[in-house]
Amino acid sequence: MQELIQKIDSYKSEINQFIATDEKLVEDFRIKWLGTKGILKGIMGEMKNVPNEQKREAGQLLNEFKLFAEAKYNEFKETVSSQPGSASGEIDLSLPGDETPLGSRHPISLMRNKIISIFQRLGFAVAEGPEIEDDWHNFGALNMPEHHPARDMQDTFYVDAANNGAVSWLLRTHTSNTQVHEMQKGKLPIRVICPGRVYRNETISARSHCFFHQVEGLYIDENVSFADLKQTLYFFVKEMYGKDVKVRFRPSYFPFTEPSAEMDVTCFICGGKGCNICKKTGWVEILGCGVVHPNVLKNCGIDPEKYTGFAFGMGVERPALLKYGINDIRLFSENDVRFLKQFTSAT
Ligand code: DAH
Repeated sequence: MQELIQKIDSYKSEINQFIATDEKLVEDFRIKWLGTKGILKGIMGEMKNVPNEQKREAGQLLNEFKLFAEAKYNEFKETVSSQPGSASGEIDLSLPGDETPLGSRHPISLMRNKIISIFQRLGFAVAEGPEIEDDWHNFGALNMPEHHPARDMQDTFYVDAANNGAVSWLLRTHTSNTQVHEMQKGKLPIRVICPGRVYRNETISARSHCFFHQVEGLYIDENVSFADLKQTLYFFVKEMYGKDVKVRFRPSYFPFTEPSAEMDVTCFICGGKGCNICKKTGWVEILGCGVVHPNVLKNCGIDPEKYTGFAFGMGVERPALLKYGINDIRLFSENDVRFLKQFTSAT
C-alpha cells in the first residue's frame, strides 16, 4: 500500500512538471497516462495484488489519481487550443509577420531592362546571339574583311583552342554579331533589339573592363531611311533621359553602316553646362548608329535594292555609371552584396 502511495505521488509530480506547448505533446500525454496501454491502466491492474482489507482505500487513491490526470489533460488541451496559430485558436493579427528577404537586381540588368522596354514599346523584339563567335559573324559579314583596319579598333580575344585553321573563333567584341544571325534567318521585315555581353582585350581600370554590355538595334524593311533612325532614337532618348534632353548627331565611321553617326545627349549630370563627367563639353556620347551598309545586307542574303535598314549600338555600363553616380566600372563585376543591394530601380 505504502508503495502505491509513493508511486502515485511521484506520478503526480511528474504530471505537474509537464508543460503543454503544442497539440502533439498533449496527445502524447493522453497516450502515456490515459491511453489503453497507459500508466493509469497499468496501476489499476495492480489492484488485484492489494490485500482485501486495503482495497477500499487503494481504490479511492487510484480513482482520485485518475480524476487528477483527466483534469490535467483537459486543462492542457484547453491551453494549447487557445494559443494563437493553433487550428482552433484565434490568430493574433497584431503580431509582426515573418520577414521575407528581398533580393535586388543587378544595376546592369536594371539599365538593360529599361533600354529594352523602351524599344519593345516601339515593336522591337528581343534577340540574343552567341558570345563565342566565328570571325565571319563578328567581322566579315559586317563589311570588315580580313586585314581591314577597323578590326584593330576592337582588341579581340581569340579562342585559340577551338581554332582548327579554317575558322577562327573569338569572344564577340560587339553585339552586332546578332544582327548578322537575325538577317541570315531571312525573315523580313526585321525589328530586333539585341542585348548581351561583349569582350575586348583591354586593361582593366576604373573606366574600362575586358567585358561589358551592349544593346544593339536593327530595323530592316522596305523604304527605311535615316529619318526613321532619328525618330526612333529621339523617342528612346526622351523616354530614357527625359523630355528636356537635347540630342545631336555627329558624322562618324563604322564599316557596317553608311552613313554612320554617333549620337550625343546633353549631359544628364550638369544639364549641358559642363562638368567633369562630360569633360566640360556639356555633351555625353551614348551610341553609334547608321544606315546598314548594302554590303552587309548582301553578305547576309538580303537584296539591298529592295530593302534598307538602320542599326545602332550602345553600351550599358556608361549610362548605369552616370545614372547611379558610380565611379568605378569594376564594382559591377565584383559581386559585393553591400554594393549590389543598393539598387532597386532604373527609373
Ligand atoms: N558595334 C559598334 C561598337 O561596338 C556599335 C555600333 C555602331 C553598332 C553603329 C551599330 C551601329 O549597329 O550601327 O562600337
